[in-house]
Amino acid sequence: MRTLKILCACTTLSAAFAQDLTSYVLPDTGDTNGGNTFPGVTLPLGITKLGPDLYTGSDSYSGYQATGNFTGFSMLHESGTGGAPKYGVVSQMPWTKAVENPLLDHNETRAATDVTRIGYYKAALGSGTVVELGATKRAGLYNYTFPSTTTSPNIIVDVSHVLPSYRGQGLGQSYRRGNMTVVVSADGIPTRYEGFGSYDNGWNRAPEWTVYFCGYFDQPSNFKTFQGTAPLATTLAEYSTSTTVTSDSRVGAVFTFNSTRVASRVGVSFTSSAQACNNVEAEIKVESTLANLEEDAKVAWTNDVLSKVTTEDTSNVTQLQLLYTSLYHMSIIPTNKTGENPLWTSSEPYYDDIFTFWDLFRCTTSLFHIIQPAAYEEFIRSLVDIWRNEGFMPDARSSFWNGATQGGSNADNVLADAYVKGVRGAVNWEDAYSAMVTDAEVVPANNNDPRDKSSSTKEGRGALPDWLEHGYITTTYGRSVSRAIEYAGNDFALHQVASGLEKTEDAAKYLSRSQNWRNQWNPNMTHGNFTGFLGPINPSGAFINQDPVSCGGCYWGDYYYEALPIEYSFNAHHDMEHLIELSGGTDAFIQRLELMFTDNLFNPGNEPSFTTPYLFNFVGRQDRTVYHTRSVAKTRYAPTPGGLPGNSDAGAMESWVLWVMLGLYPLTGQTTFLIGSPWFSDLTIHLGGGRDLRITTTGGGEDAYYVQSLRVNGQAWDKAWVSWDDVFADGGTLDFVLGAEPVRWDTGPPPPSPASGSGSTASPRKVKRSRP
Ligand SMILES: *[C@@H]1O[C@H](CO)[C@@H](O)[C@H](O)[C@H]1NC(C)=O
Ligand SMILES: *[C@@H]1O[C@H](CO)[C@@H](O)[C@H](O)[C@H]1NC(C)=O
Ligand SMILES: *[C@@H]1O[C@H](CO)[C@@H](O)[C@H](O)[C@H]1NC(C)=O
Ligand SMILES: *[C@@H]1O[C@H](CO)[C@@H](O)[C@H](O)[C@H]1NC(C)=O
Ligand SMILES: *[C@@H]1O[C@H](CO)[C@@H](O)[C@H](O)[C@H]1NC(C)=O
Ligand SMILES: *[C@@H]1O[C@H](CO)[C@@H](O)[C@H](O)[C@H]1NC(C)=O
Ligand SMILES: *[C@@H]1O[C@H](CO)[C@@H](O)[C@H](O)[C@H]1NC(C)=O
Ligand SMILES: *[C@@H]1O[C@H](CO)[C@@H](O)[C@H](O)[C@H]1NC(C)=O
Ligand SMILES: *[C@@H]1O[C@H](CO)[C@@H](O)[C@H](O)[C@H]1NC(C)=O
Repeated sequence: MRTLKILCACTTLSAAFAQDLTSYVLPDTGDTNGGNTFPGVTLPLGITKLGPDLYTGSDSYSGYQATGNFTGFSMLHESGTGGAPKYGVVSQMPWTKAVENPLLDHNETRAATDVTRIGYYKAALGSGTVVELGATKRAGLYNYTFPSTTTSPNIIVDVSHVLPSYRGQGLGQSYRRGNMTVVVSADGIPTRYEGFGSYDNGWNRAPEWTVYFCGYFDQPSNFKTFQGTAPLATTLAEYSTSTTVTSDSRVGAVFTFNSTRVASRVGVSFTSSAQACNNVEAEIKVESTLANLEEDAKVAWTNDVLSKVTTEDTSNVTQLQLLYTSLYHMSIIPTNKTGENPLWTSSEPYYDDIFTFWDLFRCTTSLFHIIQPAAYEEFIRSLVDIWRNEGFMPDARSSFWNGATQGGSNADNVLADAYVKGVRGAVNWEDAYSAMVTDAEVVPANNNDPRDKSSSTKEGRGALPDWLEHGYITTTYGRSVSRAIEYAGNDFALHQVASGLEKTEDAAKYLSRSQNWRNQWNPNMTHGNFTGFLGPINPSGAFINQDPVSCGGCYWGDYYYEALPIEYSFNAHHDMEHLIELSGGTDAFIQRLELMFTDNLFNPGNEPSFTTPYLFNFVGRQDRTVYHTRSVAKTRYAPTPGGLPGNSDAGAMESWVLWVMLGLYPLTGQTTFLIGSPWFSDLTIHLGGGRDLRITTTGGGEDAYYVQSLRVNGQAWDKAWVSWDDVFADGGTLDFVLGAEPVRWDTGPPPPSPASGSGSTASPRKVKRSRP
């Protein structure tokens, strides 16, 4: 058993949360092996994510890589993304030798493994320089210790520094222009530097955007500004003694110190450099130390995120590390940029860095709702405000720009989930529904993305013309099959909100449209013993032959995006009864599910497969759900740098394993939660307003995880699902008895299939090709 450290008396934590939960958070989890998590310093929803940028010759998505040379330490990053890097801007780079030409890309080796913990990051450079970092929401603190032998230590501020891409797909970010002023005191000593950098492109193909900065050093320095283009062979040629440099070629300054200890406070803003100065002055005082900021970060992470899930079961530290590290990493983005939106003035909140709803709608946003309900409501409002001001909600968004949309308009699902679970507050649901109707009815302008020129990848539903005309999507459009199944889910989301708002006609219309995924079902596609899968349809309405276990290129222009036909063929989560019928009935459906695991078709590292192992709950085999989710979680996840099965995807992976540990799984857009098998003997989710969901298990162990029986709010339970109202709306209890052998306890009615059978009020539209 671990010794528990009590946080300082300054915290507002109640006694129940007095454990130092932050000690279980290992920020380097998932930062190698393609997980791409950000191991630097940040606060919940914070704009600043201060961390290292490393060069290895391949893309550094969060800036960090385990190998390679440091090229700078910068203030803005994403976490767990793929595609192509964003950000890595507002940088400083320490340098021990004379800086002969500032336009040479100064970079340095790593002398020791980085040190990471909540609120603190440390790098040791080959030169002997140590860099320690701390952060607040809109500012960061750098603490440099140069080797004692360094005679004139330097810090290079190169405004052109940005994370590059080596993918060769034209998705690399570019520095476009910069402006930097060194503000000097009467005796010529710099008091601060401020200015802005503008950049464009990156994974979401954004136009130029601007970040402002304002930096202070705690030591006097001499400085030289610079401006220029390519590195020159000459020395000092590009230096200038002017205090302002502004150019669309590279600008910056080199600060030279007499002290080998230098600390720097830097603020960022998206509205002005004066605001960047306000941000740093308000958040990091002259006398603040890294130790102060670390303590504040621990309190913020504990109060806002970690303390929402507590357990008395501290017997297995690895499990606690996985729990709290996953909560941490699913909460690095989005960022709350309220008050920092340069595009429009609004009384609504503004959130950015959504990467992406395609990844997040399946099980992350529903957990975000539970863990940070106040932020979640603001987040929903911000989505609607983006629609109000730009015409469409985002599927992904960063640097104030929508894009890229991989499948459907999945913000619809997020809104429906919030609506059916009672999120009201200050959300204008009439506007929210109008935003959803825009997605469902208005074809977005084609942004001619070279990855798929057939329709918009920026926002909305690019393949809507086919969906509206035929009730399926032809190969005229990229990703036609995977978009069709997602558009159906999006239409179901509209049905849900329309029903709640008593828009009866719309509710019926969108329920009918939500069944159109059935039109994309090719009854002749065969794999092994199984016939019938979602398949491509050519422009004249005929199915094209397709191997159910191949997605071809699996990319933007292909029939299926990033997952196999067989994976997508499980994704009609609102219409399960009908899906099971098309799949050949209950037994065949069970066999299909098993095949996903025996033949390694289930991909734990990508989202289209996320819900699949839970679908056993629809066919009376909850024991198989437990078996497969446990074995995936136990073998593919660990609180280690390589411990994620794929890209974190902005925390999507982490939220998946969290649900496995909690023993529940959400069906987004519905109030249903499918039941798994919890990992802790006792665990409480604090829902706010004094409401708790308490989950207990008895008899559980590493080899004893099958559900034997369940009581919900004290009542014996025979359904493999609960609803939001059962245990979340007002809190509740789930008491499991677990054991080593499977037992058929789930004899009650299966989870709802709201678009199926008698649950449906409409039949699918007639399509022109013959249907079985
Ligand atoms: C790193 O520095 C070396 C010189 O030491 C330079 O040749 C190289 O281009 C730099 N690399 C990067 C990625 O900045
Ligand atoms: C890394 O830095 C070292 C020391 O400055 C330099 O010799 C080496 O060329 C750099 N590596 C790359 C790939 O730039
Ligand atoms: C650059 O900054 C200086 C000092 O703040 C300002 O006077 C100048 O207008 C700025 N230039 C641009 C292009 O913004
Ligand atoms: C550093 O020391 C040198 C030599 O004593 C002096 O000329 C210079 O002004 C000092 N620089 C600062 C920033 O104090
Ligand atoms: C920087 O590190 C030194 C050495 O640990 C420490 O004494 C100093 O307080 C730190 N400065 C700040 C601003 O945290
Ligand atoms: C602790 O939890 C980890 C992760 O689930 C598991 O692999 C390990 O077997 C557990 N240890 C014990 C002693 O139960
Ligand atoms: C988001 O930021 C705004 C502006 O700073 C703040 O008022 C609001 O409380 C923040 N929201 C959350 C959930 O922290
Ligand atoms: C399925 O194959 C049969 C036999 O080749 C054919 O008659 C039928 O039209 C096909 N069905 C569809 C929907 O393509
Ligand atoms: C196909 O069905 C046969 C007969 O039921 C069975 O023996 C065989 O194992 C099945 N194959 C697969 C791959 O499921």
